[in-house]
Amino acid sequence: MADYKQMLLKEFGKAFGDTDGVNVYFAPGRVNLIGEHTDYNGGHVFPCALTIGTYAAVRKRSDRVLRFYSVNFPDSGIVETSLDDMRPKADDSWTAYPKGVIWAMQGRGLNIPTGLDMVVYGTIPAGSGLSSSASLEVLTGEAIRDVFGLNEVSNIDLARIGQYSENNYNGMNCGIMDQFASAMGKKDNAIFLDTATLQYEYAPIALDDACIIITNSNVKHSLVGSDYNTRRSECEEALAELKKVIDINALGDLDEETFEANKDVISKDNCRARARHAVYENRRTIKAVEALKKGDVAEFGRLMNEAHTSMSVDYAASCPEVDILVETAWKIDGVLGSRITGGGFGGCSVSIVLNDAVENFKKTVAEEYTAKTGLTADFYVVSIGDGPCRL
Ligand code: GLA
Repeated sequence: MADYKQMLLKEFGKAFGDTDGVNVYFAPGRVNLIGEHTDYNGGHVFPCALTIGTYAAVRKRSDRVLRFYSVNFPDSGIVETSLDDMRPKADDSWTAYPKGVIWAMQGRGLNIPTGLDMVVYGTIPAGSGLSSSASLEVLTGEAIRDVFGLNEVSNIDLARIGQYSENNYNGMNCGIMDQFASAMGKKDNAIFLDTATLQYEYAPIALDDACIIITNSNVKHSLVGSDYNTRRSECEEALAELKKVIDINALGDLDEETFEANKDVISKDNCRARARHAVYENRRTIKAVEALKKGDVAEFGRLMNEAHTSMSVDYAASCPEVDILVETAWKIDGVLGSRITGGGFGGCSVSIVLNDAVENFKKTVAEEYTAKTGLTADFYVVSIGDGPCRL
């Protein structure tokens, strides 16, 4: 991390003159192990924070001006705005995320008396589904909290603020999982979160003879304006019909039996399938965490495989390329489980692989993927990191 700190300071100096009084911050991306598209259905999720994420060098100003520069998007140049004009603009590009967070914090009545200069650099591959947006949101919140001494803001508030700004400033109706995983990350632990209550529990991920591998299909997923919002509406439609016959608040309130007994009130096939995914995936996540606590990694992996099929068939949120990654992984000895991770429609798979099978896994998946799609897959062995911090 130290290298990135020096790099950010250097870039800050280049963009804004000198580095006196500049602080550098980090917030992680996340990978979700199981529990997909359950977070806006009042269900459970099981993500962990990564050691890759987004960095920012930040210094407060004496006026109301905000200036942003990204080392990843140098062509966007220095984007300038003012605390007194936080409306979204057509040329906001990536700055819509930090602007949205500052706007959301202002909206909560938090005191942000002056503007700031901010240089950002992210190490999460863009469009990979590993939450580069959420990490940028949590990073902005962390920096603002620290720079202006807003100690009343908790890390769970940072997650809520990030989700609120993404929903209301960026037009993406995401749940709370990504921002929560980034804001509440804990080294070597996954977070078992009940999104209905925000009650959570850390679960140590000590796999001994296996590791977690992310495989990037390099098919970019963009959830803003994607089918993501449609999936959410389909679940809402199914819920509205179910509520006419059973007393529930969210699909996450249902067990499989009650769903099966009542599913016929959902009139559209697509909405029924989406609801089936949400209900079964939530129950699967609870069972998977129970299995992990008992040390039954094989059962955890089996549930991951089921989760993929459900996400691909019932939720129609995978894509042919990620299906190839996962189905290839399933055939390899030493792969305990593999599934698409994150919002879907592209992005990455996550797999649990025995240590002595890792080389063969990478080689076989890489070869088959290129043979079938003409694309190149990238592999990252996951190390689970902490939440946001000042470096
Ligand atoms: C995206 C959203 C999350 C969650 C996942 C799917 O990452 O931002 O809130 O809904 O998709 O599990």
